[in-house]
Amino acid sequence: MTSDLEPRVVHPHRQVTSINTLHSLARGWGAYDAAMAIAEDLEVAAFLKGQPKKLFIGGRWVEAAGGKTFDSINPATGEVLARVAEGGAEDIDRAVAAARTSFDRGSWRDLPPAERARMLWQVGDMIEERANEFAQLESLDNGMPINDALLFFVPMAAATFRYYAGWATKLDGATQQISAPGKYLSYTLRQPVGVVGQIIPWNFPLMMAAWKIAPALACGNSVVLKPAEETPLSALLLAELLQDADVPSGVVNVVSGYGETAGARLASHPDVDKIAFTGSTEVGKLIAKASAESNLKRVSLELGGKSPNIVFADADLPLAVSGAFFGVFWNQGQVCSAGSRLFVQEKVYDQTLDELVKTVAETRLGPGIDPMTQMGPLVSKAQMDRVLGYIQVGGKEGARLVAGGKRPEGMDGGFFVQPTVFADVDGNMRIAKEEIFGPVVSAIPFSDEEDLIAKANNTIYGLAAGVWTRDVKRAHRVAHALNAGTVYVNCYHIADPVTPWGGFKQSGWGRELGPYALDLYTELKNVIVDIA
Ligand code: NAI
Ligand code: MG
Repeated sequence: MTSDLEPRVVHPHRQVTSINTLHSLARGWGAYDAAMAIAEDLEVAAFLKGQPKKLFIGGRWVEAAGGKTFDSINPATGEVLARVAEGGAEDIDRAVAAARTSFDRGSWRDLPPAERARMLWQVGDMIEERANEFAQLESLDNGMPINDALLFFVPMAAATFRYYAGWATKLDGATQQISAPGKYLSYTLRQPVGVVGQIIPWNFPLMMAAWKIAPALACGNSVVLKPAEETPLSALLLAELLQDADVPSGVVNVVSGYGETAGARLASHPDVDKIAFTGSTEVGKLIAKASAESNLKRVSLELGGKSPNIVFADADLPLAVSGAFFGVFWNQGQVCSAGSRLFVQEKVYDQTLDELVKTVAETRLGPGIDPMTQMGPLVSKAQMDRVLGYIQVGGKEGARLVAGGKRPEGMDGGFFVQPTVFADVDGNMRIAKEEIFGPVVSAIPFSDEEDLIAKANNTIYGLAAGVWTRDVKRAHRVAHALNAGTVYVNCYHIADPVTPWGGFKQSGWGRELGPYALDLYTELKNVIVDIA
């Protein structure tokens, strides 16, 4: 990389090592160059203006059956960003029927795998070509800092399509020796599950759509995707790209709408073969129940977390502090794997908190679309109110507020909350147990490793964990003892399409990404042939 590819606006988090690592991962995916050219003008203006955005069903852009629309709000200003068709049960039924027709006709699954691979790769290219547009949409719709969208989320979405493009030609099975050698031949086939419903949240709208759609398509399924009502826009733009890439009609359908109506219908639909959900644990349980009460459709769930981020006294402290900051405040804390319980060994507890509070004080809040913004608004007024409610609870429970705790002054239009640090939190307090999903960290002191493991694992969740130590034996020992789907050692939030993602306990069912997602989107068939 030559120096003219350096960001025109240096990332304000550059003191935060981990986020720079994420951006250098993006370089590795080859998406960095396109992402670098930050547009002067808002390219998305045309996309946002005019008619309400429509639903994408059966390869056509259609209005909701009931003709209803809803507003997508810009959380930095509270103003309406776009009007979007409000899909309901009837629209889900239409979309499922379109997906079923495309699946039964074999219009996607029966294409040569190399042809499917080529199209998926092309979608990755198209995302990269329109990186600015996607980044602006993500930032305006969700509130996230544009640099994170440009340098991480959009490249990650492109990389996910390219990664699964590779798998389309590699879905092989096994031949087995069974107990009567020479008499029978047994071999396995991986076949698509069928019609797949996918419900995604608002925290990483485009990346979540890519994590869902790309592996489902690589395996030959047809899809109905419902984006979150807070952030439907980038999924609709992605549908345009899939259409431009000549993915056949009905193979991917995008129905924007509310969870209680469109989402619930998708989860209970008798003709949906599998549902993949990312969101709250509460709704995850409803999805599992809807499956059980309808057709036992396959279910994968990526749910909440209350992840421990653990600083041992022998850690590289500046690195650990920046990791503690980044671990919980990235994306305004709206990350399922946020390191929201910060465990610090007593010997370095005061020093770590002091340094963390200093970093917090330097953090610049603003609209995500401003490239100098380090932290944007929360996604919605409801989410802001929920987070402010938890801050009140923390105070009442007797936790010591050492930073933040309020809405920042003079920014009343948007849904901003200051990065907030509670010290001396007890593991039984609600702020230590419940997912807040906002910029609030609960710091908890611990004495030794044994004490730490018991405290860290004392949660209904098990999505992620971080360990900061210079002792390599301790690092592995603790990583093995923690009940979490991902353990970061001396880093946090590092993600790549290659590695598995999912949680222990009530953080969900199954693993996305890597080859593991292939298990979610295929049925394994055993064929036994009498050959004697
Ligand atoms: P949510 O779980 O209600 O929403 C996620 C998705 O599920 C959205 O697309 C929504 O429309 C859909 N949905 C909602 N109710 C549904 C239902 N009955 N049937 C089918 N689909 C349904 O999350 P929400 O309300 O946006 O946020 C509430 C809390 O959930 C957050 O404060 C956070 O703690 C947690 N959450 C966790 C996420 C994660 O990735 N772990 C993502 C989003 C929220
Ligand atoms: Mg909800």
